[in-house]
Amino acid sequence: MQEPFKHAVLAVDDEEGILKALTRMFRSIDIELSVATSGPEALKLLQDHKYSLIISDQRMPGMTGVEFLHLSRDISPDSIRILLTGYADISATVDAINSGAIRYYINKPWDDELFLSRIKESLELYELTANNKYLLELTKQQNEQLKIFNSTLEARVSSQTREIKMQRDSILKSFMQTIKALSTLIDLRFKDVGSHSQRIAAFSKQVIAGYNLSQKEYQDIVVAAFLHDIGKIGLPDKIVSKQPAEMNKTDLEELRKHPILGQSCIFFIEGFEEIGKIIRHHHENYDGSGYPDGLMENKIPLGSRIIRIADAFDKIAFSKGYPSARSVNDATAHLVQY
Ligand SMILES: [Fe+2]
Ligand SMILES: [Fe+2]
Repeated sequence: MQEPFKHAVLAVDDEEGILKALTRMFRSIDIELSVATSGPEALKLLQDHKYSLIISDQRMPGMTGVEFLHLSRDISPDSIRILLTGYADISATVDAINSGAIRYYINKPWDDELFLSRIKESLELYELTANNKYLLELTKQQNEQLKIFNSTLEARVSSQTREIKMQRDSILKSFMQTIKALSTLIDLRFKDVGSHSQRIAAFSKQVIAGYNLSQKEYQDIVVAAFLHDIGKIGLPDKIVSKQPAEMNKTDLEELRKHPILGQSCIFFIEGFEEIGKIIRHHHENYDGSGYPDGLMENKIPLGSRIIRIADAFDKIAFSKGYPSARSVNDATAHLVQY
């Protein structure tokens, strides 16, 4: 909060009597008055003191009141200036008003009441201007502080965002490592498939890189690729121990339950709903001849279609359980035919 104003006033006149009269008048309103008997003497006082109001006589030897008041503006621009004039000084007074050197002029001899009211107005005006300046300065300072606060806020937010991202990346990494470990367990349950689930995931990743998918859609397909055969864990040992070529119709019917079993395995995990759907439909065929629901074309989720192709390719190219494991080129050519 700003301190209450303590005004100081400077009066310049070469006549001692006038200065005494002014001193009495200001004492009556309890305001400190400094006096000088010439313009140069008053200018010296202005160098070292701050005055709210400067009152100057016009007719003084050496330097006129108007000349002094003009010079005083350079030293004390905010002071309010009053010129004391005689009736013969009208032209100088008009010039002083027009050039902005003075706020008021008072004719000598003055009327105390009118003079005091001009003095009061002048001091109020000075106080108002000073308050405005103070508030403007305060606003500037607060804006600066706000700028500094905002800049540190941005830095703090971006540092926290980085930290959150690092934590999220770390959680995602652990999550994917867990999924990968689970897929290794799935593959261990079966003979001669090697890292089947990991190969399907790698293949799927390559295919979906060409699609404009959201991060969630991308991750769902990759997780589903790793876990697509999780339902096979629930199959009886007699099925698991057989190669596909050795299976009879009943065995194959049993084997075909694994997509639905897979979906039920992960049904309870929050956020795995889409992964469950992809797993359920990973043996659907584009022409509707697949299982378990005989879905066709775009009714089959994209992830399921990609895993279906990857699975078929992998079985042809890598699986020892199929009649003729072929080279990658042969397997590709075989798939292209269909
Ligand atoms: Fe499968
Ligand atoms: Fe598979």
